[in-house]
Amino acid sequence: MAEFADLTFRGRTVQLPVTVGSEGEIAVDISSLRDDLGVITMDSGLGNTGACQSAITYIDGEQGILRYRGYDIAELAENSAFLEVAYLLMHGDLPSADDFDEFAAGVMDNMLVHENLRHFFNAFPRDAHPMAVASAVVASLATFYPESMGARKGPDAMESCRRLLAKLPTIVAWSYKQSRGIPVTYPRCDLGYVQNFLHMMFSTPYRVMEPDPTVARALDLIFLLHADHEQNCSTSTVRMVGSSQSNLFASISAGVSALWGPLHGGANQALIEMLQYIQRAGLTPGQFVEKIKNKEAGVRLMGFGHRVYKNYDPRAKVLKKTAGDVLQKLGVHSELLETALALEDVALHDDYFLERKLYPNVDFYSGIILHAIGIPTNMFTAIFAIGRMPGWLAQWLEMNADPQTRIARPRQIYTGATLRPYVPFRQRGDGRIPRRRPCNPGA
Ligand code: CMC
Repeated sequence: MAEFADLTFRGRTVQLPVTVGSEGEIAVDISSLRDDLGVITMDSGLGNTGACQSAITYIDGEQGILRYRGYDIAELAENSAFLEVAYLLMHGDLPSADDFDEFAAGVMDNMLVHENLRHFFNAFPRDAHPMAVASAVVASLATFYPESMGARKGPDAMESCRRLLAKLPTIVAWSYKQSRGIPVTYPRCDLGYVQNFLHMMFSTPYRVMEPDPTVARALDLIFLLHADHEQNCSTSTVRMVGSSQSNLFASISAGVSALWGPLHGGANQALIEMLQYIQRAGLTPGQFVEKIKNKEAGVRLMGFGHRVYKNYDPRAKVLKKTAGDVLQKLGVHSELLETALALEDVALHDDYFLERKLYPNVDFYSGIILHAIGIPTNMFTAIFAIGRMPGWLAQWLEMNADPQTRIARPRQIYTGATLRPYVPFRQRGDGRIPRRRPCNPGA
């Protein structure tokens, strides 16, 4: 039976439809509110706003639950692998062996990028951030596949999705090679997805690097754990750009840009930079935590806290164990990692963090693992982007298949000046009229 919520404003009551999700989450549909009562809702950061219905990922932040298509994240982490999870997210169900072989072959065959695109990498400055390169190169893929630009559903759209899934590791690895002045390494058809990424990152013309199985498994796990996280900032960006019927490459490029920020995917890089700062400044973990509690210069404990999780991030639980295994197997001892673990210990016993329900998030341990396996710090967020790609693709496909999808166009409450007349320059300030500056070719 249809359920409604009553809302009364200035003596008028409207009945708003209620939607209940498969896990009992409840939403009040306010889409007719402005027409009915002339008011809109305000929700800074959209923390209480549902923008779509989705069957992809379920999160219960209070209980620390994360499920992809109904499967618990810890079970997937234990038994599955990144490419299978990518299939699950994009297609809705786990694949049969035949379906998986076909999917994986389609991805592996697409890892190579157009040779003309390779020349793009020489045009970027040596110190270009890999996220800037990734965003630009992903957008530029639209110029190489104009025939599939208009496809938003069906086999052509799925083909574009596979292309992106396949090509991002190559793009990211090549941006690293370019920054080091080393010739790019092409993908190999005898290697898997993660192994190929490690090969393209670390093999050179004079030394082929055979990927270490421990490292490859840890990286596969990092990709898998990042694969989707429902309507986070970058995924919402992909949906928002896609809602204007922009092509897939443009939508994903925007998602890469949104992920770059230090409050989102950039936190794993910011974590290592924070640890380096603590060491440079000669601070103890306790002294640094005091600075955070005093809110000095906007300092936050990177890798801690989450908008949705008010309990231990279930992805962090899995990665914490993996971080221990990787460090032990690789025999890595670093002061940076010791500082991270000491910081974690202080924060987990401090009332400031406990009262605010701030626990380590996935980026705390992914940062530690990536550092231990020798991935340069400025590449961390690009690694997150490779992992998040299946989620972005699945959400983009779902949005385009949903008949309820409309162009995203939020409202606002205007707080600026009310109507005022235009004043010409002559009547403003000292009455001077602006002059065109003479051009200075040497500048
Ligand atoms: N260190 C110290 N204090 C914090 C932190 C932190 N990491 N996170 C939140 N707080 C405090 C915040 O100062 C506020 O305190 P008060 O009530 O005294 O003003 C309170 O906790 C609530 O914070 P908020 O800003 O309302 O929380 P939010 O939900 O808007 O922010 C967050 C979520 C992830 C942006 C934030 O926790 C943060 O900045 N964390 C550090 C960056 C980070 O690790 N980001 C990666 C998130 S996981 C990867 C991903 O999914 O993107």
